[in-house]
Amino acid sequence: MTEAVLSRLFDQVWAESPDLVVMTGDFVDYHPSAARQLVRPLRARPQPPLGMFAVLGNHDYHHNGCAEVTRLLGSAGARVLNNESVRLERGGDAIWLTGVGDHLYGVTDFDAALRGVNGAEPKILLAHQPDLVGHARDLGFALMLSGHTHGGQVVLPLLGPAQVNVAHGRPFVAGMIEVAWTRLHISRGVGMAGLPIRISCPSEFTILTLRGGRGKEGR
Ligand SMILES: [Fe+2]
Repeated sequence: MTEAVLSRLFDQVWAESPDLVVMTGDFVDYHPSAARQLVRPLRARPQPPLGMFAVLGNHDYHHNGCAEVTRLLGSAGARVLNNESVRLERGGDAIWLTGVGDHLYGVTDFDAALRGVNGAEPKILLAHQPDLVGHARDLGFALMLSGHTHGGQVVLPLLGPAQVNVAHGRPFVAGMIEVAWTRLHISRGVGMAGLPIRISCPSEFTILTLRGGRGKEGR
C-alpha cells in the first residue's frame, strides 16, 4: 500500500464528510515501520468533528510493533484505543467508543476498557477480531466494528471464502450481522495479507449512519 494508493483511498473517505473515522487494525503485515506510509496521507486530511480512532490488530503486534504503530497513527492524528473508552458528544447526546487490545494476542481487557463508562449511554466497540462478538453482546454494545478477515480475500465460486480465520465460521467473514441486540460489522478492509491478490472480494471502507432506537436498553 503506497502513499499514493492510501491518498486516493482517503480522498474517497473524506468526500463523505465523515463525523468520525475509525480503523480496526492490521495496519501492517509484519513490519511496524510500514505504517509510515499512511502518516502523510492521513495527516493531510482535516480532523473529522468527532476525531479519528483505531484499535490494533494481530499483525500490528508482530515484532513488538504496538508502540511504533501507535506512535505513527498518533502522529497522523488517529488515537489508538487500547483497552479504553472515550465519550463522544454532539448536540447534547453522547456515545461511548470503546477499543480493546487484540484477542489473538490475549491482551483484551474489557474491565479496563469500560472503566468509568456510563452504562445508560450507547456503546460502540472497536475490536479487531470478530470472535469477540459474544462479549460485545453480553456487555450491551449496540454496535461492534471489526476487521481481520479481509472478507476471505479470495472468494471462490460455489465454495465461498478460501480462508476463514474466525472461530464462528463463514457468516462472520464480512458484512453486517445481528447477534441479539448487537450489530456486528466486519469490514473486508483495504489491504491484503500474504499474496497481494483479491478475487471476488473487493476492498472496502464502510460508511455507517448511526441512528437511535436499538440496543439492549431499547436504544
Ligand atoms: Fe488480523
